[in-house]
Amino acid sequence: MTEYKIALVGFGGVNRALAQLIAERNARWKTELGFTLKIVGVTDLFLGSLIGREGLDAGVLARLPAVKGAFAQLPGGSAEAQNAAVIKDSGADIIAEATFTNPVDGEPATSFCRWALENGQHVVTTNKGPIALHGPELKALALRHDVGFEYEGAVMSGTPVIRLAKQTLAGSELSGFEGILNGTSNYVLTRMEGGLGFAEAVREAQVLGYAEADPTADVEGHDVRLKVVILANELLGAKLTVSDVSCNGISALDLADIEQARADGARWKLIGAATRHADGSVSASVEPRLLGNDHPLAGISGATNAVSFNSELLGAVTVSGPGAGRMETAFALLSDIIAIHRRVAHH
Ligand code: HSE
Repeated sequence: MTEYKIALVGFGGVNRALAQLIAERNARWKTELGFTLKIVGVTDLFLGSLIGREGLDAGVLARLPAVKGAFAQLPGGSAEAQNAAVIKDSGADIIAEATFTNPVDGEPATSFCRWALENGQHVVTTNKGPIALHGPELKALALRHDVGFEYEGAVMSGTPVIRLAKQTLAGSELSGFEGILNGTSNYVLTRMEGGLGFAEAVREAQVLGYAEADPTADVEGHDVRLKVVILANELLGAKLTVSDVSCNGISALDLADIEQARADGARWKLIGAATRHADGSVSASVEPRLLGNDHPLAGISGATNAVSFNSELLGAVTVSGPGAGRMETAFALLSDIIAIHRRVAHH
């Protein structure tokens, strides 16, 4: 039986949900998955830091009030975020990185991943920034230090997309994909089909927790663009950067456009897509597209995400599911840890 020591970097909704899962399910994982997790460190910009090499109580952490400096109330805790110390001095085998996405330079998350990989620790992350902006460098580091680096939750949270395409669809000759990769914009388009104005629909998406605090990245396609870069590079062997992907959002669509689409038997969707061409080059875009009602993505409503892979041997394979959510994204971290466990067992 294996016990992995894990340190949590960022303690917002996602890693807190992972702590809750550990508190509730470790015993079950022991028999079903062949390992248990012991939290040995946690650090957060708002809550502070805590190291407990003998193991911290996951239930206590999961229930901790979200009050500034709250970790200082626990034995050995501090009100300061001590990211480097929690990564390097906690004795963790695995670092679970779930801090905010910085779409400009991927920091500070990229540095957290880099430190951990250089330190010989496995890394699981839900963060789009490090993968879209520094993926090749971080993957090379993981390879050099012979550790796992997994990031299923960077695209469509816990809905399996990256490993599904890389592992299960290997050999099917993927030639491209089209995806609804932002829950907020799809929710907004769905509500506009119900007659609600754009601004009001965005406000609803914020209240429901789908949209970012500044929803510009959601509705202007910037969030989707990061996900397209990740998927194109992971699945199609591309070497795209963010500036290679043309990007238009949904803010120019009005109720008349939506109504016209309905009359024509179609729906507007914000589509992130990439295609591999015969010469091996890959082109990618984010744009609103008018989809006929028979398109595999036309029926995806509300905040649900979906991606349709095009492959030579199977045609279109479509996966839909949640694209965000604290427990959904914590599950992505669990699936990454399972992948690392299998890697370790295989070694
Ligand atoms: N704000 C994003 C969305 C969250 O609406 O899909 C996931 O990246």
